Amino acid sequence: MGFATNQWYVAAYGEEVGDGLLARTICGEPIVFYRTGAGDPVALADRCVHRRFPLSESVRDGDQIICGYHGFTYAPDGACVAVPGQVRIPRTARVPAYPVVEQDSLVWVWIGDPGKADQAAIPRAPWLAMDGWVTVRGMEPLAARHELLIDNLLDLSHETYLHAGYIGTPEVAQTPITTEVDDEAGVVYVSRRMKDVECPSFYADSTGIKGRIDRWQDIEYHPPCLYLLHSRIAPTGVEPGPDADDPAACHAEIVYAITPETETSTHDFWMVARDFALDDEGVSAFLAESNRTVVLQDVEALNVLEKVIAGEPEGYQELSINIDTGGLAARRLLRRMTGA
Ligand code: FES
Ligand SMILES: [Fe+2]
Repeated sequence: MGFATNQWYVAAYGEEVGDGLLARTICGEPIVFYRTGAGDPVALADRCVHRRFPLSESVRDGDQIICGYHGFTYAPDGACVAVPGQVRIPRTARVPAYPVVEQDSLVWVWIGDPGKADQAAIPRAPWLAMDGWVTVRGMEPLAARHELLIDNLLDLSHETYLHAGYIGTPEVAQTPITTEVDDEAGVVYVSRRMKDVECPSFYADSTGIKGRIDRWQDIEYHPPCLYLLHSRIAPTGVEPGPDADDPAACHAEIVYAITPETETSTHDFWMVARDFALDDEGVSAFLAESNRTVVLQDVEALNVLEKVIAGEPEGYQELSINIDTGGLAARRLLRRMTGA
């Protein structure tokens, strides 16, 4: 399907961008990331204009990068400020600089026409950098196209089968979903609210809630990149208060950034922010370990699917049912963005 361009993508976690030179390919474009002495993230095309040597394999000199092959020197705006053996710098000696914004602890990069970049269009995930919340997170490389991860995340009925014993219980697959699409804002909402159900170990061992629970899974997908799962776990029968105050429940904001690396590989950024057991490092370690295990179960399955797709004839027809409503809506919005 190609990539949705003129869009913001999560390129890295804030803490990944620092004094070093971080190479990351986003939507097929090799990019080098670093942070200036003043603390601002920089994103430049990762190819020297001279003979293509990766700037990420080069060295920093203050806020500049000196190419590791013959010494072309670049400023943070991509302009070449020195070349070896001559004073005159060719007018075309510059590498593209990408618009980059750090927000909610995420480093976003704009893929497309830099003149069209609008920071206000970046969807928010405020819990990641908010008092009263603690986050664990990681990133797994996925050898599969991003469309497969979007499908996967928009249909959580697979938790029952692929993630049994972690976050899956029989009720997830049994409970119908409601799907809404805000076409104008370009957001897909999928909601599954389970009453009086078994508590999966992921939440039983982290929240301390004993016995049966009410479990809400409210998905909000902002194509192309940001996926939010608002998860509410409460002792069964406990409803939120009138002003949305909800002290007896535990909340987890599960955030994914789905960033295409190439047509058939994806950066699978996963985050779990929680408003309970804030000071309990054991809970942090447990959630990080459990969520990573769950993500790797998805990665393994999707890597298999990518191979299946690679070997199949053109025009293979899938079969879709009710659980796929959210995924199909997401595909429609993505197609609109790619012009496909
Ligand atoms: S390739 Fe960078 S200076 Fe020659
Ligand atoms: Fe999954």
